[in-house]
Amino acid sequence: MSGPIVVDSVAALRAQIRDWRREGFKVAMVPTMGALHDGHISLVRIALERAERCVVSIFVNPTQFAPTEDLDKYPRQLARDLDRLREAGAHLAFTPGVAEMYRPGFATRISVGGPSSGLETDFRPTFFDGVATVVAKLFLQAAPDCAVFGEKDYQQLCVVRQLCRDLDLPVEIIGAPTVRDSHGLAMSSRNAYLSETELAIARKLNVVLRQTAAELTSGADEASAVGEAAQALVRAGFRKVDYVAAREAVTLGPWRRDRDGRLLAAAWLGTTRLIDNVEILSA
Ligand code: PAF
Repeated sequence: MSGPIVVDSVAALRAQIRDWRREGFKVAMVPTMGALHDGHISLVRIALERAERCVVSIFVNPTQFAPTEDLDKYPRQLARDLDRLREAGAHLAFTPGVAEMYRPGFATRISVGGPSSGLETDFRPTFFDGVATVVAKLFLQAAPDCAVFGEKDYQQLCVVRQLCRDLDLPVEIIGAPTVRDSHGLAMSSRNAYLSETELAIARKLNVVLRQTAAELTSGADEASAVGEAAQALVRAGFRKVDYVAAREAVTLGPWRRDRDGRLLAAAWLGTTRLIDNVEILSA
């Protein structure tokens, strides 16, 4: 099977998509930062079920990294990514350089309110501005019919939905279930940083979250349950817990027992920060 068409300019991307539109094809997009794992490939599969053509962007977006974060060390492995996209049947890989996405003098930022407040923003205050700006650019460049985002980055998914709603971007946002290893650890490009010992600890994150979500559904007090979950993570070996929080599933406002919710967490293992989330079923 031949691999995806690889383009690194917006002009070439638009030309190809224009051709596909002329042929009557629907286009689905999967925005990524590369270092593709099974989680990303599951997004490509969903995209291929929704549209005749699947575009995957691979761009390590500098504007969503704070100066103290892992931009330089973020894994970059384009040849391997293209192999994985060929196996998965993606049609086009958009691999722009930084200068193509952020031309000299670039001076625009998109700031989404609502679901971006709190959680990640408390610890990474500029993160969602960077994500919203690059996702809006990708949507304007590719003009896909739909785009697939993983529920692993649950707050990001909610922010992207809000972005499209608020800016009337005609892109259907599809949320895809988190892909986990056999121990329940959510697939993440950052898992590559973990030692064997850290991996064993990382696998406790989903266990603690699932147990706490079940307790909340059964009527446990919210503050005690999330406090106990944070302590359990520290006891399991996490160096620091940024947050464990129960939220309403759509707006990410305060959790209500009569609505479906989401239990979200971020915690550190050494210098690696992991995030995960699980559903809280309404009582
Ligand atoms: O989830 C990611 O990989 C990134 O935040 C995204 C959506 C590709 C934007 O850079």
